[in-house]
Amino acid sequence: MNSFKPGLEGVVAFQTEIAEPDREGGALRYRGVDIEELVGEVPYEKVWGLLVDENLEPGMPDPEAYEPVSLTGNAPADLQAETARLSAVWGLKKLVDIDAEQARDDLARLSAQMMSIVAKSAAVHDGRQPAPDDVVAQGQTAAEKFLLRWRGEADPKQVQAIDTYWICTAEHGLNASTFTARITASTGADCGAAMSAAVGALSGPLHGGAPARVLPMLNEVASTGDPESYVRDLLSRHGRIMGFGHRVYRAEDPRSRVLKRTAKELGSPRIEVAEALEEAALAALRELKPDYVIATNVEFYSAVVLDVAEVPPDLTPAMFACARVAGWAAHIIEEKRTGRLIRPSAQYIGPTSRALSAV
Ligand code: ACO
Repeated sequence: MNSFKPGLEGVVAFQTEIAEPDREGGALRYRGVDIEELVGEVPYEKVWGLLVDENLEPGMPDPEAYEPVSLTGNAPADLQAETARLSAVWGLKKLVDIDAEQARDDLARLSAQMMSIVAKSAAVHDGRQPAPDDVVAQGQTAAEKFLLRWRGEADPKQVQAIDTYWICTAEHGLNASTFTARITASTGADCGAAMSAAVGALSGPLHGGAPARVLPMLNEVASTGDPESYVRDLLSRHGRIMGFGHRVYRAEDPRSRVLKRTAKELGSPRIEVAEALEEAALAALRELKPDYVIATNVEFYSAVVLDVAEVPPDLTPAMFACARVAGWAAHIIEEKRTGRLIRPSAQYIGPTSRALSAV
């Protein structure tokens, strides 16, 4: 029997108690709680607690003092390298050699530190020194502290933009980066290895890198004032419209709904052009694929919300990684508790047996 499924679409690889998006896209729930109830009610670090500990308290801790060695200012690359390095610097033990409580504590330390690394890398990118700890300590929430560390100041609207974005993107079932984290965890590797592997998987434009490509699209449409032509030209070159389509959802992504509302509430100057492009894109995609629903995904309005916080496009994959530390940590613990070495098979379709001289 040939059971090969390209992209593993529809293959159920795990059972999870954390979250899994439903295909119709009505809602996204973390441990049963709708994200609509969380946004504006509790800050991101408590959502981390909900996902990882199934308890808002104590939530994600503050990062401990640590100086990354050589930040380049390329935040996704810095984050991946530094997270892997932390395993050695902190002497993290392999998951097979520790209990779930120790794994949780390692992941809490890592999660907090990963946010700090991104903020510091962003400061380096801007040619600035990251703010000292006493300045950062004035912040009340993880989002405020992140902005303080990066820029030395934190505008409340920008804090709200980042906090909302992080909550909406904290966890989303078995996406590519979470799968990567679980695969790594299933080998018994340490938590730093599992988290840094996930960062690499997230950096691609088909997963976490899409917002970086949304803003240039909005800029172009703003300059021409003609979203229909932009979309038509792109599709005629077989290009993909970033921020549309999803492997799971066959309806509007619930996160997109929350983020669009937030962008409006925060007075984003890009909302008008974004809505015009969204309308043109949805119409063109409906025409192109009448039998396949391609709707707005989380990345489209993420780009608009992150723009309110003046997050430059090339930093957006790392901002996504900051948010997703919660989901990855929760899945790594679940994998440790319930998992088994992940080792699927491939269907061999290469040459049959032959002599070396035939090559
Ligand atoms: N623009 C243009 N065409 C599209 C788009 C799009 N955004 N999305 C899907 N299609 C087309 C594909 O070209 C393909 O056409 P073909 O059959 O003629 O080759 C068809 O629809 C099916 O595409 P798949 O890639 O098989 O569909 P899938 O549902 O698996 O795709 C994906 C999901 C990869 C996200 C896709 O929609 C895409 O590339 N979107 C743009 C990138 C993006 O926004 N990524 C962020 C995703 S959200 C996240 O990761 C958090």
